[in-house]
Order: sequence, then C-alpha cells, then structure tokens
Amino acid sequence: MKKIAEDLYYVGVNDRRKLKFEDMWPLPKGITYNSYLIKDEKTALFDTMEISFSDLFLRKVAEVLDGRTLDYVIVDHMEPDHAGSIRLLRQYYPDVQIVGNKKSFDMLKGFHNIDTGLKLVGEGDTLSLGRHNLTFYMAPMVHWPEVMVAYDSFNKSLFSADAFGSFGAIDGGVIDEEMNTDFYWDEMERYYSNIIGKYGAQVQRALSKIKKLDLKMICSTHGPVWKKHLNRAMEVYDRLSRYEAKEGVVILYASMYGHTEQLAETIAQNLAEAGVKNIVMHCVSNTSASYILRDIFHYKGLIVGSPTYCNDIHPDIESILSKIKIRGIKNRTFGYFSTFSWANAAEKKLDIFAKEMKWEVVSEPVQQRQNITKDSHPGCKILAEAMAKKLTEE
Ligand code: FEO
Repeated sequence: MKKIAEDLYYVGVNDRRKLKFEDMWPLPKGITYNSYLIKDEKTALFDTMEISFSDLFLRKVAEVLDGRTLDYVIVDHMEPDHAGSIRLLRQYYPDVQIVGNKKSFDMLKGFHNIDTGLKLVGEGDTLSLGRHNLTFYMAPMVHWPEVMVAYDSFNKSLFSADAFGSFGAIDGGVIDEEMNTDFYWDEMERYYSNIIGKYGAQVQRALSKIKKLDLKMICSTHGPVWKKHLNRAMEVYDRLSRYEAKEGVVILYASMYGHTEQLAETIAQNLAEAGVKNIVMHCVSNTSASYILRDIFHYKGLIVGSPTYCNDIHPDIESILSKIKIRGIKNRTFGYFSTFSWANAAEKKLDIFAKEMKWEVVSEPVQQRQNITKDSHPGCKILAEAMAKKLTEE
C-alpha cells in the first residue's frame, strides 16, 4: 500500500502472470488492477480486485484501515477484473455499504447474488466521507453499461474506472511523476483500441462531463495514476474516441507463399518513395490483432491485401476485418489489393468491407493472378501515390 494524496491510499496490484487480458490481448508487461482507499471520517474503497489477487488485496486494505472498519465500497465498474472480489470483501466487512447505480446492482445480484447493504446513487448524486465529498457521474459503455466515475472535490481526483487506463504493470511508482511514462502511451492506445474502441461516442459523452471538473489527478483502474500528464491522457482519449488519426499508413496482409507479401512490400516501397514516413506493415497471421488495432486507431491510412482461400477471403484477414468492423472505426483512407490463382474472391470481400465501413477508397484495387511480375508494379505505384496524396491533402 502507498499513500498517493491526502487520506488516499493505493491498494492495487500488478498482475505479471496473466498472458492475455480477456484471454485475447497479449500482456507482455503485465497489467495492474488498481484500487484506492480514502480514510476520512468514513472509509471508502474504490473498486475491488480480480479474484486471484484477493488475498494480497484484502491484506493491503486491512493494513491501510489499521483496525478501522470499511464503511463504503464504490463500484465504478462490475467487470470481474475489478469487482471479482466483492463477495469476499463483504464477508470480511459485513457492514460495508456497496455504492453503485441501478445497472451495477443488477449485475451485483447476477454475478455475486448480493442485494442487501446497497446504497444507490445516480447522476450527480453526492456522498460525504468527512472532508472528502464524492460526486458520481454515469459513464455508460466506458466500457460496460453500468460504468460510473467518482469525483473527490477535496483532492480534486477522479476515480475513472477503465477510462485513461493502459496495459502494463507499474514498476515501483504509482503516480506518473514518479516514473518514466514513455512505455505507457502506446499501451494506452492499445488498451483503448482493444477494449473500449467500439464506444467512441460514449467516451466523448463521458469526456464532456469530465472536462468540466477541476482535476488534479486521474485514478484509473489500469496503469499509472495521471497527475503530471493528466492533460496528455485526456488528449489521447479525446483523439482516439473521435477516431482522429495521425499521418501514416498501416499495411495488412496475409500470404501463404509470399506472393501477397511481395505486393505489400512493393506498395510499401512506393509509399516511401511518395514521401510517406510512417508505414507499419503487419502480416496478420503472425501478429496479434491487439497491436494491429492499436496501429489502425493511430494512423489515417489503411491498405489491406488478401489472397483468395477456399473461394473466399483469407480467414486471418477476415478475422481482423471483423474486429475492425465491430469497433466501427471511422474516417480511414482505404486501399486494397488481392492475389489469386484461378478465381478472385478476396477482392469482392474487400470491396464489400470498404462499402460497409463507408471509407474513402483511394484508387482502383490492385489484383495479381499467380506470380508477381514487373507488370504488377504500375498498379502498386498508383495505389501508393493516391494514398500518399490523400494523406498529405488533409
Ligand atoms: Fe478493467 Fe472493463 O474492466
């Protein structure tokens, strides 16, 4: 446990054991489950803990309480990485009041069969702990429907649930000013694109409430506490939730024998010759979608290439297209190319995808039957130059 502001203690943990968050998204540097405790006239805990860390967590809470009882646990988010230990917490502190909204209480009953000792709050409701006064704001779909955030006007701190969170354990410090934060910015974008990326409009709605608060500190449930870089964290969320992207191109491809890959390489070289500096290539069969989504959220241009496989698009390309579609990524500048041996089904699917996404397509698609030849190059050049021109126009 660690004191991070007046009366405020960090009681979160690092998880360096889990290989994939939600069993999908790689965690090469782990993840934190953050929890915070205010000790005022009343005591209040902000969210609990993933169940496998409950023993360590409960010990930290008891150490901070130092013999006092726990008056409130604020449930900002019911997902099990935060609410997983709530039943156990209730057993340790039977008189604790669980503070949540109507939707969180419905989930509390469903996940934990708890429906007593509840304190219901709604938009703008307040709770006094003594000198710390909390105000609650609903933030539905950031990242589940029951999510809310809590603002403490004494420390000017926001308990923001998943918002402003990142992947990555914290190595020693808790607050950003105590650490080198370079690592976390990419991980914040990866976290956002993987976990919250579908809900841009809802994040914007939450941000419009948060921006009105007098803020000194954001206490998210994942990653560092933002204090020194609070504005930068807000800007990242604002940019990503507006689907606004930077100048650059992501090229995605799948390739069974290298022909599609050679087209991708040719397009990349032509992009570079046309002056595009930020080019990121991913073979989708060998790279986790987690990193691919991060880069698509980051860059404005996207070029996708697929071979035809079983008279359809390559299944690994289909899988990433589905993940892009689910997130409703807006305003990308799109190009595509395909390879085939006797029938081109991939191009038809890429054309349907482009129309579904309502993205601007920069040029005619490039297609290659069987092996790449020097005749394949003009099409690649046209596509690359059209993409480069479009990016620099904006
Ligand atoms: Fe960190 Fe949506 O749970």
